[in-house]
Amino acid sequence: MIALANDRFLRAARGQEVDATPIWMMRQAGRVLPEYRALRKDHSFLEVAHDPALCAEVTTQPVDRLNVDAAILFSDILLPAEAMGIGMRFDPGPKLDRQVGPGDGPATMRRPRPKEDWTYLHDCIQATLKRLDGRVPLIGFCGSPFTVACYLIDGGGSKNWVGTRRWMNTDPEGFREFLFFLGECLADWLQVQIDAGVHAVQVFDSWASLLSPAGMERFSLPAVNRILNQLKIPDDFPTIYFAPGAGTSLRAQSRVGARMIGLDWRVNLRTVRSVFQDLPLQGNLDPGLLLGSEAEIEAGVRSVLQDAQGGAHVFNLGHGVIPETPVENAELVVRLVHEISREGAQ
Ligand code: CP3
Repeated sequence: MIALANDRFLRAARGQEVDATPIWMMRQAGRVLPEYRALRKDHSFLEVAHDPALCAEVTTQPVDRLNVDAAILFSDILLPAEAMGIGMRFDPGPKLDRQVGPGDGPATMRRPRPKEDWTYLHDCIQATLKRLDGRVPLIGFCGSPFTVACYLIDGGGSKNWVGTRRWMNTDPEGFREFLFFLGECLADWLQVQIDAGVHAVQVFDSWASLLSPAGMERFSLPAVNRILNQLKIPDDFPTIYFAPGAGTSLRAQSRVGARMIGLDWRVNLRTVRSVFQDLPLQGNLDPGLLLGSEAEIEAGVRSVLQDAQGGAHVFNLGHGVIPETPVENAELVVRLVHEISREGAQ
């Protein structure tokens, strides 16, 4: 194992003291950087995600350019479905070759064999760790079973997710079983990443916002809980759960089994901190601010740093960086977070 030169992210996630607040940005690899766009002219999304050298290059780009304190693996929440027999393309959003529905599950879908199917994932991570050379930790990830199910059932992105919500509300038990089946596959996908050497993992529940608080407790959270409970990880290995738009179920989220919770920008970080003092929190700058002026960005950064006081905090945006964000503004946010938190002058 390569020793880490910058372990701020890991220290903060574990509730240990840090010299400055660590920051990384969701979707930092593959949206705002001109060097990413240039590379994508010659290679498809899937090619980059499957090729160790290209994957390592793109994953490392934001570390070189933005000075973030962690890298996130270049991959996608839908890639595990390839080994389940569902092909896809990205155009730029995911388009799946077939849709699944009631009756689908272990009887009709292939259960991936991690060692054979996901050798490429292992190799991408090893190549990335080598290229990072211990500068910062590497974060692995998966989608929540519920969020991945949304795409598999509706066949790609959707406004109303009609297929998913129809299945969920006509055959709730069958839907839950399907989520648990997906969860088994996703736990294997995460374990491959962990065994290959990622330093932390995040579960993205991007469509949790579709669910009522009761729906969260009935469908998404139990399936995430099963994944997190079966990971073979050291006691201090950071696991993050992030469910944007689901701020009304934070209490239930805090019991999902993740060691850190990600917050979107619609919730008040100070209020959340006052309720969950011992829970490491990640977030939650409005990504829209990065389209704004320097003064607005600085005020926003200061306010997040202030609101986070009194507990463990990893700075992040409240959701993915918006593709049209000027890259200088992303650089500015990183510099400000480090400077202001280091001075303790927020
Ligand atoms: O920077 C990173 O975080 C890199 C890795 C990453 C990608 N997708 C690469 C990608 C991560 C963590 C994801 C997660 C992901 N994928 C989520 C959860 C995060 C979130 O934003 O809520 C979701 C919902 C998806 C599904 C998905 N994949 C969508 C909706 C799209 C459309 C385009 C987009 O950028 O959102 C994709 C394609 C995709 N995944 C791209 C990238 C870099 C764009 C491909 C390209 O045109 O280069």
